[in-house]
Amino acid sequence: MSEKILIFDTTLRDAEQTPGAALNGNEKLAIAKHLSALNVDVIEAGFPRSSPADFEAVSRIASEVEGPEICALSRIIEKDITDAWEAIRDAKRPRIHTFVGTSEIHIKGIMRSDEDTILKSSIESVAYARDLCPTVEFSPMDAARTDPVYLFEIIEATIEAGASIINIPDTVGYAIPSEFGKLIASIKQNVSNIDQVIISVHCHNDLGLAVANSIAAIKNGARQVECTVNGLGERAGNTSMEEIVMAIRTRRDHFADVHTDVDTTEIIPISRLVSRTMGMPVAANKAIVGANAFAHSSGIHQDGVIKQRDTFEIINPTVVGLQESQIILSPRSGRNALRHRLAVLGYDVETEQLDSVYERFLSLADKKKEVHDADLEAIMQDESKTVLVSENRYQFDHIQVFSGNQITSTATVGITTEGGAVTEAATGDGPVDATYKAISRVTGFSPTLSDYQIRSVTEGMDAIGEVTVKVKEQGRSFVGHGASTDIIEASAKAYINAINKVIHFRENG
Ligand code: KIV
Ligand code: ZN
Repeated sequence: MSEKILIFDTTLRDAEQTPGAALNGNEKLAIAKHLSALNVDVIEAGFPRSSPADFEAVSRIASEVEGPEICALSRIIEKDITDAWEAIRDAKRPRIHTFVGTSEIHIKGIMRSDEDTILKSSIESVAYARDLCPTVEFSPMDAARTDPVYLFEIIEATIEAGASIINIPDTVGYAIPSEFGKLIASIKQNVSNIDQVIISVHCHNDLGLAVANSIAAIKNGARQVECTVNGLGERAGNTSMEEIVMAIRTRRDHFADVHTDVDTTEIIPISRLVSRTMGMPVAANKAIVGANAFAHSSGIHQDGVIKQRDTFEIINPTVVGLQESQIILSPRSGRNALRHRLAVLGYDVETEQLDSVYERFLSLADKKKEVHDADLEAIMQDESKTVLVSENRYQFDHIQVFSGNQITSTATVGITTEGGAVTEAATGDGPVDATYKAISRVTGFSPTLSDYQIRSVTEGMDAIGEVTVKVKEQGRSFVGHGASTDIIEASAKAYINAINKVIHFRENG
């Protein structure tokens, strides 16, 4: 039977310690709610003793966030433990996580203490925490550099004192996978009461091995992994939540006996939320959540993915919450990728014509390195032999919008149709929404808007804004463009352009 790997998310505690990534209470609460939607098992909400603001944030999370266990961190100091408990006592399932450095370098260098004193305080602290809270986790910090015999002793004693989760931190990211796996196996062998608890691991990424070390630990019996969204955390960060979860899910052949309960379709949304809120951009090549993780730029790869996705993709992007893979058109792209993108834009290019379009595309790509939809539109409009498959059934004529932050937006849109000029008005949630509703009334089409982007084509206050929309109809995407110095007009043109393409597709396939 498959055993569950508990996902203990410490984005709001370890990652929040990252310089410049501090969050206010509202931001912490919003992320905690999203972590609950992601279905993690434990949220480490903060370190209440560290500041009154963190105490307050942890309390709000404990009383407002349902689902996961809510955990608070504390040193092995009575006041810390009391504060941790006071902050989480309203949670349905509270957990206190108490820790102390156990390596010689931490005991002597930080605590200026000795092994016996640390052992005694750990036992007393766990017992005190256990009197307050039903679930107590103990971490011998810097376990990977701790003398194993002392490590076994302190683990056995804190289990005896009431800990039900023993977390083994590689605090400075020093371990390598075979060594860390052996450490977990040796704990299982040498700690007599280890079967009474869950073994957890908390790996830092100083050598880029946090995920690999966590995997080695799972292989040797760990059943909780401490991790963070986007792998954020002290210094080089922690085990990345998305990487460990997707490794377990993707390599079922290696992880047949374990699983997580994470809703993987929430991975991209939470990655973006955390990145934006903490002001920590995600590297484009970051596994799973980087902008390039599902983008293909070499011609051979693009050709392969278009023909059969799994030739160059081991994860279906929809599994992590993306809509589709991305084909980056560059000088390395082949004809097939170009034809595919043109079809999405609504252009059906004959084989002979494709050669000439491809020549023009290549000379532009050599200059620009990346070719965007607007560039392709420009090429196609210039092509004398091109047939624009989406004949314009509807043509934008005029628009009038009333909008403001204290009134309901109203848009009146005039469109030329086969039957003559038609004007319709609608209200909406903002001027663009009102405009799109008015357009839907005229055309009878209201395809789902899946993407809306605006960029300035020229410079200055009177710049031309180009709006690109992507709409979905019967599982297919259609892209529409519109440009104007008035961004609402540009938005209207883009939506009408996309609707014309939908109609053409329906009528001509
Ligand atoms: O890295 C570490 O050891 C920690 C502990 C508090 C678990 O963050
Ligand atoms: Zn840590």
